[in-house]
Amino acid sequence: MNKSKRLKIVLVGGGSTWTPGLLKSLCIKKEEFPIEELRMFDIDEERQRQIGEFAEILFKEEYPEAKIIYTINKEEAYKDVDFVFCQIRSGGFEMRQYDERIPLSYGVVGQETCGPGGFAYGLRSIPDMIEIINDARRYAKDPWILNYTNPAAIVALALDRVFPNDKKIINMCDQPVNLINSFAKILDVAPTEIIPEYIGLNHFGWFTKLSDRQGKDLLPKLRENILDNGFAPSDAAERDASWLVTYGMVKRIVSDFPEYIPNTYLQYYLYPEKVVEHLDANHTRTDEVKEGREKRVFEECARVKRAGTAKGSIIAKNEAHADMIVDVASSIYYDKNQEFILIVKNDGIIDNFSKDAMVECRAKVGGAGVNGYHFGKLDVFMKGLMEGQLAYENLTVDAYFEKSYEKALQALTMNRTVVDAGKAKAILDDLLDINKGKWPELK
Ligand code: NAD
Ligand code: G6P
Ligand code: MN
Repeated sequence: MNKSKRLKIVLVGGGSTWTPGLLKSLCIKKEEFPIEELRMFDIDEERQRQIGEFAEILFKEEYPEAKIIYTINKEEAYKDVDFVFCQIRSGGFEMRQYDERIPLSYGVVGQETCGPGGFAYGLRSIPDMIEIINDARRYAKDPWILNYTNPAAIVALALDRVFPNDKKIINMCDQPVNLINSFAKILDVAPTEIIPEYIGLNHFGWFTKLSDRQGKDLLPKLRENILDNGFAPSDAAERDASWLVTYGMVKRIVSDFPEYIPNTYLQYYLYPEKVVEHLDANHTRTDEVKEGREKRVFEECARVKRAGTAKGSIIAKNEAHADMIVDVASSIYYDKNQEFILIVKNDGIIDNFSKDAMVECRAKVGGAGVNGYHFGKLDVFMKGLMEGQLAYENLTVDAYFEKSYEKALQALTMNRTVVDAGKAKAILDDLLDINKGKWPELK
């Protein structure tokens, strides 16, 4: 890429609740990642319009040198872009609600990305993500595709089957960064002073070391602190109740399995029964998001439009989620070789694990894409858990491409949140019904 040129980027899922934060991050980081044109693309015209109008006001005030376009037209969206930032929700919150409620009605974890909910969502996200990549490459010359769309583990595996070893497709998750920010607050250091070692699958991993700049491992001190005082997110004041419960579970995991610091998502696999006790099938995370984040974002877009200014807007704020995607893009474009925790093909990172797995680990990012650091060997407990989870992920992707009911049933039976094949079948049949036309026809 010609480094003096300013970039054209498109946000796919431009009507996402995360878009305002991303817009703000682009404004703050205009020196590190200068854009000429920001496009936003969504299939929902009304959602896109509301966020698009907010974007126009924000950019007029903070980034007047960048042109803004929002559209539901693919050619207009993708033409000649350098980067595609993607965060879509296939099926919307309407389907997320079923993903959560159906498993819960059988006493099984109902969650966006874990268990049967993540499975159902995965089968909807796969075709949409394949289409987005094909569209982007039809209208632009080999753009970078930075993807947040969930379930990122399933999406990453499926995309690797269709676009094998494609270095320009990068799948990512912000939860490791959210956790590092929380560790930093507890340890009273800047997040940039923590050099993490992390290993796992997406939403299924552990911090194995947290070094300071002098090489001292801060993990023992953090563990002690968590055991004494519990665990909360760095932005606890802004979090919904269910996220505080989730972060709180880290103490339980660390007290039972003290060696490493877990990703919060491990709670669903290690204590599914305890988690189900906390969940309410009549008021799931979808309800909480609709009453909270989604309502806040769209009401605020309308208020900003009426006021004619985005100055001081509560949604035009810096978020770890947004900073991460802009920082990854900047590290690629300027070949900075910065370190992130990202999803990447194993191939030599973990010695005793399938080389085709898409693992999440510490990696360097530069002009040639993501380069994961060698980790070494997994211990028996981690390996056993990850083998089971990877089998579930692979069977899910097989079920999609082979349109196989049997593989789908095997996948759900493999999943630690389900285990019982009878329950797996009942849940699968209900999910099949509700996803008619949105899933491939499983036979
Ligand atoms: P949302 O429903 O508010 O936004 C998603 C937007 O995508 C909607 O406006 C919808 O109309 C649009 N959309 C759906 N299908 C599309 C398609 N095929 N093409 C273009 N646009 C499409 O959801 P949200 O809560 O803002 O989350 C958005 C996505 O980001 C979800 O997949 C979520 O899981 C993901 N996410 C991932 C991480 C991560 O760690 N990887 C973090 C945060 C959010
Ligand atoms: C974390 C996870 C994401 C997830 C997000 C929001 O950041 O890493 O994968 O999508 O939380 O979840 P929510 O339940 O708030 O929509
Ligand atoms: Mn995530």
